[in-house]
Amino acid sequence: MQHKTIIEPFRIKVVEPIRMSTPEEREQSLRTASFNPFLLHSSEVIIDLLTDSGTSAMSAEQWAGIMRGDESYAGASSWFRLEKVIQDLTGCDYILPTHQGRAAEHLLYTRLGGEGKVFFSNTLFDTTRANIEYSGATGVDLPIPENADTQLYHPFKGNLDVDRLREEIENWGAEKVAAVVLTITNNSGGGQPVSLENAKAVATVCKQYGVMFLLDACRVAENAYFIQHREPGQEHRTYREIAQELFGLADGAIMSAKKDGLVNMGGFLALRDLDLAQACRTVLIITEGYSTYGGLSGRDMEAIATGLEEVFDPDYLHYRIRSTAYLGERLTAMGIPLLQPPGGHAVYIDAKMLYPHIPVDQYPGQALVCELYRLGGIRSCEIGSVMFGKYDAGGKLIPARMELVRLAIPRRVYTQSHMDYVIETFGEILEQADRVRGYRIDWEPPFLRHFTARFSPV
Ligand code: F0G
Repeated sequence: MQHKTIIEPFRIKVVEPIRMSTPEEREQSLRTASFNPFLLHSSEVIIDLLTDSGTSAMSAEQWAGIMRGDESYAGASSWFRLEKVIQDLTGCDYILPTHQGRAAEHLLYTRLGGEGKVFFSNTLFDTTRANIEYSGATGVDLPIPENADTQLYHPFKGNLDVDRLREEIENWGAEKVAAVVLTITNNSGGGQPVSLENAKAVATVCKQYGVMFLLDACRVAENAYFIQHREPGQEHRTYREIAQELFGLADGAIMSAKKDGLVNMGGFLALRDLDLAQACRTVLIITEGYSTYGGLSGRDMEAIATGLEEVFDPDYLHYRIRSTAYLGERLTAMGIPLLQPPGGHAVYIDAKMLYPHIPVDQYPGQALVCELYRLGGIRSCEIGSVMFGKYDAGGKLIPARMELVRLAIPRRVYTQSHMDYVIETFGEILEQADRVRGYRIDWEPPFLRHFTARFSPV
């Protein structure tokens, strides 16, 4: 049977114009932004692949929910609807709404963390690591070794190395371990999925040592898609059932609803332990808002409740994962080195392989990010030594494990021809690769430097 094109499973009801810019305008914008695309105005961008977070297009049903939102301070009907949707999905009794994922991280990790404590993960996302380190605790990433080889195919490259987890718990002593955080999908490790088998093995180790096991679940539906398609024995289950089983393994979860919640703002913390939930809820009320809205409007809660249902639609998930793969496959065919296989929400280009002549302390990823903007008005995000680099006592850069550039695909926003334009721009990137130079950092803040650092060309 001949395969037909997998089309966007929606019609477009509202449009937002894109302003086309000239190369001269973009050169000027890039200088004004100190060669950091986070500092660009979005109106200067043609295709915005900076993040898939909070950039989804909402459905007609979600917009209808926006009108239905109950804005009562306490006990809003929108809250009870959201609470039930999250309880059904996670199996957790205690749900704390927050304005986004990192607010939930802050509530939980300041409580669990502190000096002398350690968190283990397949890979901590940058805000997660920052919240852990801000509390005084240490974050240790334990991805499987296959994750480091960008060219190697592995169906579940997001997995956590369970043998190393056991060793590290023994080394540190279980009482020092604040929690094990499984990030699904593994965003900073390439948007790669975690297998159900791996999640179960992690849960078993955590039980054995009496250590708390948490999911960072912001892309759980995409992870469930990969499990259904790649893990033997899972092919007859629904995506939602798989997600429920993943949640069921953990003591709690944090979810930024800005990803698989299909909304522009929102998040939550889900817990099974009453005492811990109560402690976090006290801080929630002080810092975010009352316990039946957190940092959210009633209308936001309606949209999240609907988004968490829509995201498990098989047509949606199939389109979603296949359209990311389409971009990855076309770029691979052209000879662009990327992390294989493409992730769920993003394609990650290996900038060190693309620009072997640029040393890591001149940030090859930042160079690619700037070139994509120059040549195509495309905004992307460095996930390498700008984001994760540290300095040794002598001020020398300790580079990140990989020098990646992420092309994150907003959900339900761009069409196939937008992606074809991105692919064409990569044709020009490849032709001009030899002449591209690196960057130096002129200014940086102490935490999360990639957001606001200022650069100049070397
Ligand atoms: N965990 C993961 C795995 C994430 O990818 C993010 C956000 C968060 C936690 C924090 O959630 O933004 O709602 O506070 N990731 C975005 C990104 C910012 O671009 O990947 P948040």
